[in-house]
Amino acid sequence: METAVQDERELYESMRAKLERVVPEFELKYKASLAHQINLLKRERNAVILGHNYMEPALYASIPDFTGDSLELCRKAASTDADIIVFCGVRFMAETAKILNPGKTVLIPSPKAGCSLAESITAQDVRELKARFPGVPVVTYVNTYADVKAESDYCCTSGNASKVVQAIAGDRVIFLPDEYLASNVAKETGKRIIFPTRTPRPGAAEAPIDYEIIGWKGRCEVHEKFSVEDIANIRRQFPDTVVLAHPECSPEVVAAADFSGSTTAMIRFVERSQAPRYLLLTECSMGDNIAAANPRKEMLRLCSVRCPHMNEITLEDTLEALKQTRYVVEVPEETRLRALRAVNRMLAIG
Ligand code: 13P
Ligand code: SF4
Repeated sequence: METAVQDERELYESMRAKLERVVPEFELKYKASLAHQINLLKRERNAVILGHNYMEPALYASIPDFTGDSLELCRKAASTDADIIVFCGVRFMAETAKILNPGKTVLIPSPKAGCSLAESITAQDVRELKARFPGVPVVTYVNTYADVKAESDYCCTSGNASKVVQAIAGDRVIFLPDEYLASNVAKETGKRIIFPTRTPRPGAAEAPIDYEIIGWKGRCEVHEKFSVEDIANIRRQFPDTVVLAHPECSPEVVAAADFSGSTTAMIRFVERSQAPRYLLLTECSMGDNIAAANPRKEMLRLCSVRCPHMNEITLEDTLEALKQTRYVVEVPEETRLRALRAVNRMLAIG
């Protein structure tokens, strides 16, 4: 049965009810009009819109059929029967949707929506690591491009990284590319970690043998900026603040926080907790989205730190994506099939 599209006035009213504390009214009117056009086109073209938790509030509250963290959106991408998937997130997420849906058209509204972690490693880097550590299974964070996933045995997200590492038989894993997520997983699972130099000296011993995780020095350009000092300053000013940190933050920041988890885990934590004030060490648009959904709770965030890639995704470009069928995400079939193995193994673990 076809669902009715809300008329523009109704959509504006529902956006205003959710967002009046975080988005000015004139902006809401303009964005409701764009969102209405997108929702009409979405139905006409049998498209589904997946929206990451980092999307800006007006987009987040109006056009996605599903919102969530990387793992949840991966599951939604695996089960959709729409003809077109519009991914309001960054390129590696849209690629993962394509890996799972070769027969569907996958669109990303901006070709500029990259990710510093995905840029930090190439397929050749992974091949070289595998040659240096033969037989050691490779786990790659979902924040990588398809050719890197294709070199991997398992994929993982921030929502299941420790679970995936623990599910793998054997003494060692290569965990790529996020230095901090790897260190946080090592801490959580009680494993010792090393970061081998990029180019080993000829004839030099590889490394001491008492390690179980081999990491890589990639970083998220947003989460690496948060410091223990930021937390101390906020706690001095507002002692009752509950601090939440994404696991892409350094282990020191995660240790100084009260909770660490995926973007959805942080959203659920605030929903379920009674504290009056929170500091979110993650992308700031998500702070706006949580503030809008929890009007009695105050969200403190360091808004100088925005993800420039997630911020490339706008309502204007999403409308153009549907009008012009742009930008189509493609993954070569041979790469896709190898990457799919790693993604499916992750989905099977949970
Ligand atoms: P989540 O999987 O927790 O949503 O994180 C994705 C991401 O890119 C965080 O920076
Ligand atoms: Fe990549 Fe960091 Fe942006 Fe997430 S916040 S998409 S990890 S650059």
